[in-house]
Amino acid sequence: MNKQSFCIANWKMNKDYNESKEFLNQINKKDLSVSNSNIIICPSFISLSLASNKNRNISFGSQNVSSGTSKSQTGEISVEMLESVFCDWVIIGHSERRNILNETNEDISKKMELVYNSKLKPILCIGESLEEKNNNQTENVLVNQIKSSFSRIDFSKDKDILIAYEPIWAIGTGIAAEINIIDENMKLIKKIINNISTNNCNIYLLYGGSVNEYNASEIFNLSEINGFLIGGASLEVDSLYSIYKQI
Ligand code: PGA
Repeated sequence: MNKQSFCIANWKMNKDYNESKEFLNQINKKDLSVSNSNIIICPSFISLSLASNKNRNISFGSQNVSSGTSKSQTGEISVEMLESVFCDWVIIGHSERRNILNETNEDISKKMELVYNSKLKPILCIGESLEEKNNNQTENVLVNQIKSSFSRIDFSKDKDILIAYEPIWAIGTGIAAEINIIDENMKLIKKIINNISTNNCNIYLLYGGSVNEYNASEIFNLSEINGFLIGGASLEVDSLYSIYKQI
């Protein structure tokens, strides 16, 4: 496969510091020259400092960043702090943060602006719930999420922006969305983005939601897909490596 590809591990609240270190030791023993895919590991904040051990084949992402710049935000992490540990990417707007932690489209657009204006690059998550899908609201939801996430960005800078389409009803279920639904919704997202003047930015589309070593190839073959945001299957070295090799 010749297209640019991203294999992103979203570890969520899994793996403590030692487990994260061990995973990195193990994956570094694998042959990371067999694919051109970019491996991006998104561990917890406490393990992000492992990113300082710069590895040419693996880059690191944070699972979140603060939406504000005031220092008076106990418990929050700023873009500058992430930059200081060689973190390159930030996941923004994951559905678990939107739904469990009440993150709004407004919060997400502020985070997108801060990250866009920093050295970091965003991995923006979008996707509809089962109820929204069943009520034929998918298109509306995706248009709103994309437009509002991009509302503070002028696209004047040359930057990679990843958009992960993650139907909420497929996350963590073990069953990815049907291939025709992924195809249809990726094309829809492409159409929405084509209507926005994204100038110098390179926008790549990813799929997330129960990706594993058995379904990765088929999904990756879809024309608009440039990779995956992977939860459960990214926790084992062998399954992440297997997906990486296939894309
Ligand atoms: P999953 O998680 O691969 O376990 O479905 C994906 C995600 O939440 O980003």
